[in-house]
This record gives sequence, structure tokens and C-alpha cells, in this order.
Amino acid sequence: MRFESAQLIKLEDYKETPYTIKNVSLVFKLHAEATEVISSLTLSPRAGSDAGAPLELDGDELTLVSLKLNGAVLDEAAYSASADKLVVTSPPAEEFELEVVTRLNPTANTQLMGLYLSQGIYCTQCEAEGFRRITYYYDRPDVLSVFTTRIEADKSTSPILLGNGNPQETGDIEGTDRHFAVWHDPHPKPAYLFALVGGDLTCISEKYTTASGKPVDLNIYVEKGNENRAGWSMDSLIRSMRWDEKVFGREYDLDVFNIVAVSAFNMGAMENKGLNIFNDKYILADSDTATDTDYEGIETVVAHEYFHNWTGNRITCREWFQLCLKEGLTVFRDQEFSSDERSRSVKRIADVIRLKSRQFPEDQGPLSHPVRPTEYKEINNFYTATVYDKGAELVRMIKTILGADGFRKGMDLYFERHDGDASTIEDFIKCFEEANSADLSHFSLWYHQSGTPQLKANGCYDEAAKTFTLELEQTTPPTPPTPGQNEKTSFFIPIRFGLVGPNGDDLEFSKVEGADVKGDLLCLTQAKQTLVFHGIGARPVPSLLREFSAPVKLESTLSREDQIFLMRHDSDPFNRWQSAQVLMTEMLIEMTNSNVPAGKEAFIEALGHMAEDDTLDHAFRGFVLPLPTEQGIALEIGKDVDTDAIGSARDTLAMEIGLALYDSFKRIYESLEMPPIFSPDALSAGKRMFKLRCLSYMAASGKQEGAELTKAHFDAADNMTDLMGALIILVTQSHAGAEDALKSFENRHQGTALAMDKWLHTAARTPSETPIAALRTLTEHPAFSWDNPNRIYSLIGGFLSGNTRGFHAADGSGYDYLAEITLLLDKTNPQVASRMVKSFGTWKNMNAERKVKAEAALKRILSSDQQLSTDVKEIVERCLS
Ligand code: TRP
Ligand code: ZN
Repeated sequence: MRFESAQLIKLEDYKETPYTIKNVSLVFKLHAEATEVISSLTLSPRAGSDAGAPLELDGDELTLVSLKLNGAVLDEAAYSASADKLVVTSPPAEEFELEVVTRLNPTANTQLMGLYLSQGIYCTQCEAEGFRRITYYYDRPDVLSVFTTRIEADKSTSPILLGNGNPQETGDIEGTDRHFAVWHDPHPKPAYLFALVGGDLTCISEKYTTASGKPVDLNIYVEKGNENRAGWSMDSLIRSMRWDEKVFGREYDLDVFNIVAVSAFNMGAMENKGLNIFNDKYILADSDTATDTDYEGIETVVAHEYFHNWTGNRITCREWFQLCLKEGLTVFRDQEFSSDERSRSVKRIADVIRLKSRQFPEDQGPLSHPVRPTEYKEINNFYTATVYDKGAELVRMIKTILGADGFRKGMDLYFERHDGDASTIEDFIKCFEEANSADLSHFSLWYHQSGTPQLKANGCYDEAAKTFTLELEQTTPPTPPTPGQNEKTSFFIPIRFGLVGPNGDDLEFSKVEGADVKGDLLCLTQAKQTLVFHGIGARPVPSLLREFSAPVKLESTLSREDQIFLMRHDSDPFNRWQSAQVLMTEMLIEMTNSNVPAGKEAFIEALGHMAEDDTLDHAFRGFVLPLPTEQGIALEIGKDVDTDAIGSARDTLAMEIGLALYDSFKRIYESLEMPPIFSPDALSAGKRMFKLRCLSYMAASGKQEGAELTKAHFDAADNMTDLMGALIILVTQSHAGAEDALKSFENRHQGTALAMDKWLHTAARTPSETPIAALRTLTEHPAFSWDNPNRIYSLIGGFLSGNTRGFHAADGSGYDYLAEITLLLDKTNPQVASRMVKSFGTWKNMNAERKVKAEAALKRILSSDQQLSTDVKEIVERCLS
């Protein structure tokens, strides 16, 4: 484990290694407490490097057993070895072989980085810097090598042995109860893509033939008993492979593609070459234990990891500052895949909700950083919503600016030019510029400058002149912890727009002055621009940022009436949703300040209209209905936040909407019939969600019947989506049936960890006078464990993100508790501890009373006697900066 002394890593210090590693041959003798790893490296001095430079290999908590150079034991004077470094002082000037033997204890590995055991299954996680916990190596993404892996283990406990690449040989080890398997990966790769698995697993298999006719064996390995829960993942994998051939012209490149699901995993999944390892949450699904959202999540993550084979593996990153090169691009690709498989506008809304709820808070507080950062202390802290989700938005903007064909041309050039490379964002952008003869230099600022730009828009119609004048102004508030970025420069902002006429159609215009406009796209390049549209026959309502064409915060000066007009008539479904959100947020903020918002009745009526409009998708209507979350409202308020006031305003508005539209909601709820057999397809899922959202308002209305129907929905549920949907309503709205429902859910699902995770998540959201006492009681529940990340993300994460009033309780008890468990978790798993402590990231937005408590809790972490990991220390320090 790395501790607080870790230094600042800077992009500007990047240097190639003095040696290259052509081949790596690994032998793993797997034993639960003493695994031996024999690593044989073929090294050569890199042309142009200082001759005779020392060979310095990375390690982390390693124990060296022996070291040989060109077959001879190396004299102790010729090297030095510590837990985190191996230095061979003066290696030969010609190609040489180094044999490094290390011994590991997989059982004691609670960080879940390197080689560890998950429920008796040996598995590895090497991204970003886990390989150095296995053997001394150049553990950095720009050192590519051909790996051969021999795995030896007990036949009884590990009948299945898997590695990267293609299987080569298997056999028994004579005279023992052990066996071996050899895997060879012909594609040179960095160490972070290395993986192995050993265990008593079972699998489901399919045959796939690539577009050019190459056969591939597909296998998904799971713990025994789960084989009937992997079908959806296999289906998603096959659809992903076809889609990448069709949309990006990318084929798979090995004889086998293996996926393994494990239950102890820090993140979602990992794209190791030919051997993806998954958190079982993103593999296992059946209607009884998985919600529609889980099915969607599985489809997305399976696709994401598969797509990494080209964007990440065949073209990897030069160093970790380039993380968005593979992550932003691959998120964009998985979003596009889901859009093609489902409804594009609904998917866009879901992605924007995610961006605004996770990335916007990050970018508007002390944890803000550029999509392509230039310094870090702990790379694990940079697997963020900014790198992933804002990174995907930047790729989407490139496509918006260049058009679909131009984007494809740039991608083709990128694949052609950089296949086999460890690349940079600059390389990537250059491909789009060259393929399109375009200049993206101003656009590139998005990668380097942090913060969410605010876009102010003001429009004015001149009836006599038939002109419409649109003033646009951008400002990006300073983000203090980004070094040297207190003065922000103007971004290149692509804005899709329409001028909506009285009948709802976009108005034509004869010419426009003041900005570059192509069709429905205008590009804002300066701090302030005034556009004049000519030949406008009637007063328009401007609809800006259609499809959310740029990740900015739009502050419109539209009247409530105009906003309601857009909500009802905009031809862009995304902006209809956006208008409803703006209206709800504005009204909730007014209510938080104890004001009665103007136009509330008109808004509620418009909402009812949309709910009843059968020309709209069920899923779309389901997304329009709910109020913004308490966290979302808090972010919009931005300062002096009182979470109790936000909570009551939100409860009140939900009750008012529920009461006013009760009959509509009831009619919809009762008229929507579900097919007798569960199917997770988008249409059925949309219908289920829409019904539940109507039900949620009926329950919130205060009418007894609403609560009763919710309890009846819960009792009648024959799938997890309906069961959970009703449970969340009962629990978060504190209905009388909540306790019984929790009990009955528990009886039904105890013993199924992934289902009980949902129970923990929901129970953590229970409103309470003594939320921390309630949470402590839940940590004693048999379904909870401090040793498994999924349990912690569900219970603690559920509390931090879903019980806003509890976490931000004015007495500071939520902050104290988070400090306490951060220290506890940091002892065993710093990555998980660091993800939890990030919830302090919005503390500066709180009111004075809360800020004092949060600051004290953060300082208490720093001043603890316990030695902090670099992971936690870096986040806490940035929060306090
Ligand atoms: N590359 C993985 C992905 O996004 C991320 C990942 C999985 C990861 N496990 C990790 C990153 C552990 C850091 C540490 O697909
Ligand atoms: Zn990824």
C-alpha cells in the first residue's frame, strides 16, 4: 500500500524507459497464502537511451525470492530490492534475460489490486498499477510486450485456469494433485491488461463468426449455480461485437473471448485482453433479482469492456494522464451502442441525468480537474466522472462539429495510424483534423481547462424588422485546485438550436449575423456574441442546446410561459425534458426560500398533458415526470445550502403534483397492461418505469389510496423492477407499509447477495430522526460486510447519495460518520475508502452551520494517528483546498 509520502506525478516529467521488454514469460504457482511468481523478461536497451542506465522496476508490497540475469544468480552487490522497487545497477548493453521470482499472499490481499482471492477464486486486477503487486516490472502503459502465462493450481479447487490471449497447452503435473494451463497473447500489451483466473467455475458458451469469417469461442464464467443468470450478458456481448463491426468496422482479434464474474471487485469491470473480469453485478441477471436498470447496466458495461479491445487495448495510453483517450472514447462508444439498441432520445436523457448528477458536482467543487489532467498523486483517484463521462461528451462534441461522416473518417484514421501504439489525446485530435482538414485547436481547450461553463442566453424579437436578436455569454467560474486555472478562457461551444414558432415548428431564417451557423448548429467561440437572425415572421422561443450539445450549465432568461411552451411543443424531445427540469428546479428553489412560485398550476397542467400524450414513448414520459433529486437542487442553489429546506420543498411539490394530477396518474396506471411474461426489452422497461413514476406521485399525494395501491403493487410484483420500485416509494415516502415491505423483501431474497444489495441501498434511504443510529444498525445486518465493495457501495453509498437529509444533517453527525468509516476502510481497501470520502466534495456549497462540521470532520481524517493511503489523503487535501 502506498502511503502519504507519495510525490506529485507530472505530465511534463514524462520520459520513455531506458529499456524495452520484448517478451514476458510468467509462471504462477497458485497457493492461497504463498503463490510463487516466476517472471522471465527479455530486455533490451532502447535505441537512443543512455547506455548502461540502471534498470529500475516498479514493485508494491513485494517480496523478492530470487533474481537471475542471463541464467546466473545475480550478485547481491549488483542490485537492490525493496518492497516497492528493484534496481539492477548496470545491466548489459545487449539484449538480456532477467528472471525475477516473487512470493505473494493472495488471501491477505484486501485491496483487491494485484492477485487476490474472491470467494475462493484466484483473480487479478492490474489497472492502473496492480501488476507491480505481482512482480517487479515497468508497470506503465507505454511498455508493450508479448505475454505467455503458465498457471499451476490444485485440480480440485481450481479446475478452471484462464489467461490472456489463446489457450496453448494444458496437462497434469505428474505425481501431484495439481495441473497447469499455458496461455499465449500474441498482441503486445502493457501490464495493466494482464489477467489470470483460477477457480471452480462453470460457464455458458456460444460460437461467434466475425464479419470476415473468423470463428471465436465466447465463454462467460460464473460461480456454480449462476449459469442460468448469464444469458443476458452473452446476448449483450454478441450484439456489441456485431455493432462494432457495423458502426466502426472493428473486428475481434483472438480465437477466444472469455469473461469471468467475481463478487469482490472495486469497480464495474476490466478489459484485460481476451479475459475481461467483471464485478458479478454487471453479469448476473434474472427477472427475480435484477431490475430493468440492472439489465441496461449489464448491456452497457459488457459493451464498454468489449469496445475497449480496440479503444484501449490495441490503441492504449502513453501514460495515465491520457486515461480519457480510452475511457472517454469507450464510454461514448457504449452510449452510442445503447442508443442504437434502444431509444436514442431516452438514452440521451439518461446519460445527461448521469452527467449532471455525478460530473457537474465534481467539476463545480474542490475536486474539479481537467478531462486530461497534468498532475496527480494517486492515479486511482482519477477514474472519475470527469474523465469518463465528460470525456465522452467531448468525443460527442467532435462528432457534432464534424458531422457523422467526418467523425467516422477521423476514427478510421485513428485506428489505422495508431494501431499498436501507446497514444495521446493530441494524436487522437490530430486524426480528426487531418481527416477533415479541420482546425480543432480552440475546441481542444475542453481537454485542458476544468470547470463547467455557464451559458447565459437572452433573446429579443423585433416585429417591425423581422429580426430576432440572441445574446449569448459564457463564463467559467474559477476552480481553485486546478493549478494555474483561475483565469478561464472562453470555450468553443457547439450549440444545436431552433427558433420555435407559435405553432411549434422551427422558423426559417434568411440570414444570420454574429456567429458561424450551419443548419441547426451554431458555434460560440467568444466570451460574448450577439446573433441577429433575419426574416423571422413571428416571435420565436429559442430552444438552445438541443440534445445537450455541450456540457454546460444553461441559464436562460425565458419566461415561465415560454419555458412551458417549449416543454409542450419543442421538436427536440431532449429539450422538452430539459424545459420541464428547468421549471421544476426554479420552482423548487423558490419554495426552498418559502415563496409560492408563479405559474405552478400552468406547469402542473402541462406535465399532466405530457403524461397523457400517447404519441410519446412511455420511457420518455417516465423521465419527464420525476422532480430533480435533492442533491440536484442543492447543486443548482450552489451556496448556503440547507438540505432540510430542500427536502421539504420537494416533498411539498410532489404532494401538490400528485394531488392535482391524481386522476390522470390513476387512469394511466390502471390502463397500462404488462405482458404476462417478463421481458427486459426497452419498451417493456419503459412501461414499467412510467407506471411506477405515476404510482410514486399517487402515493405522494397524501391520499390513502395511493399508498395502498403502492403496497398492492409491491405484494403483486413478480419481478425485481416492480418489487424495488414499490419498495423505494414506500420507504422514502415513509408510508405505513414500509417496514413490512422491507421485512418481506428480506425474507424473499436473503442469501442472494446482489438482491440484498438493493435492500441495503433502500433501507439506507429511510428518513429518520436519528439517521446515523439507523445506519449503524444496518451495518450489523447479516447481508452487510465491510469486506465486499458492492455491500459498501450499496449501504454506505446509498446513504451518502440517497439520504441527503441524513448525510447532511445539520448536527454534523453524517460528516462525523463518513470520517469514521473512511479511516476504517482505509486500513483494508484505500480505493473504496477514497470513493466514499469523495462525498465531501460538495461541502463548500453548504450553509455555515454545516460547513463548520464538514471542515472539522475532514481535518479529523488528516490529523488521525493512522497512516493514510495516498488515495484518501489526496482527496481530503483537495477537499480542504
Ligand atoms: N478500465 C476499467 C473500465 O473502465 C476501469 C477499472 C476497472 C479500474 N477496475 C479498476 C480502474 C480498478 C482502476 C482500478 O472499464
Ligand atoms: Zn473503461
